[in-house]
Amino acid sequence: MHDRKLPLTPFRRIAVLASGRGSNLQAILDAIAAQRLDAEVVGVFSDKPRARALQRVPPPLRWARDAKSCPDRAAFDADLADAVDAVQPDWVVCAGYLRILGAPFVARFSGRLLNIHPSLLPAHRGLRTHAQAIAAGDAVHGASVHFVIPELDAGAVIAQAAVAVLPGDSTDMLAARVLCVEHPLLVSVLQMAASGRIAEQHGLAILDGQPLFTPLRLEFDAS
Ligand code: GRF
Repeated sequence: MHDRKLPLTPFRRIAVLASGRGSNLQAILDAIAAQRLDAEVVGVFSDKPRARALQRVPPPLRWARDAKSCPDRAAFDADLADAVDAVQPDWVVCAGYLRILGAPFVARFSGRLLNIHPSLLPAHRGLRTHAQAIAAGDAVHGASVHFVIPELDAGAVIAQAAVAVLPGDSTDMLAARVLCVEHPLLVSVLQMAASGRIAEQHGLAILDGQPLFTPLRLEFDAS
């Protein structure tokens, strides 16, 4: 069992894993600064030492290793897991983390490991989700926040936000509109997480003690 070190506010320490731009991380930081999210980012972890995401927090909160300098995925994941554990997070949030996490990492943070994925899961797992949605002729696309399990993008979905796919959409146009809903979606789920309302049991997401048999559908302006 995770040893929670802050008994009065037990769910508010957030570690973020990010590989690139870090706009989702920035949305978390902005929500905390605006007191819309009662939480603390206790570390940002990256497999890309030059990731822009790292620049969004002060140096003591940054951790990065070039994955190519590690002998294999297991060694990298073990280093990463030790570093994440060292900041005693209540939640570990993959926000644009582009490396697949191995089963030992997932097991170590099971039940407190979340990911934001740019599709309405279970549609379009993996990469290039916007191109997948356009190629499939989808009328609606969006984003999901889900618990991470070893199978890629297959864990219990907590909440989703949809956007319309418009005639003539390029992947970049669609990605930009999905990103507009990703940010408030992730913050909304973290508000629930930081107030202890979310858990995972037997592969199901639990909200306020009740299983979520279908994900929450939250609505945000995508323009
Ligand atoms: C987001 O679309 C996220 O859903 C996906 O990668 C992108 C990362 O964006 N997994 P950012 O780094 O948060 O700006």
